[in-house]
Amino acid sequence: MPRPTPPAASVTVYENGPLLIRGDYALRTALGGPIDPGRDTVALCRCGKSSLKPFCDGTHKMAGFVAGATPDPGPDPGGPGPASPHPDSGADEG
Ligand code: FES
Repeated sequence: MPRPTPPAASVTVYENGPLLIRGDYALRTALGGPIDPGRDTVALCRCGKSSLKPFCDGTHKMAGFVAGATPDPGPDPGGPGPASPHPDSGADEG
């Protein structure tokens, strides 16, 4: 049985902090334009307070951003599940 191929990149969700992307990835705008992260590992803001969006600048700490590192089950764990990707995200395209 062949070994599963490891993913080219990983995204780590930090509790009360950013998303850290490591590996071989391409960062792009919603229109497909390239964004140069300037480094191999990059932290993306998920608190909305960074002045360097889409990158984290550490402001989440002063802003008191609180979010878990695992999916939030929401008020009804038996409900419909996580939200669908944004229709313009291309996440459902092969
Ligand atoms: S997650 Fe760090 S500034 Fe938003």
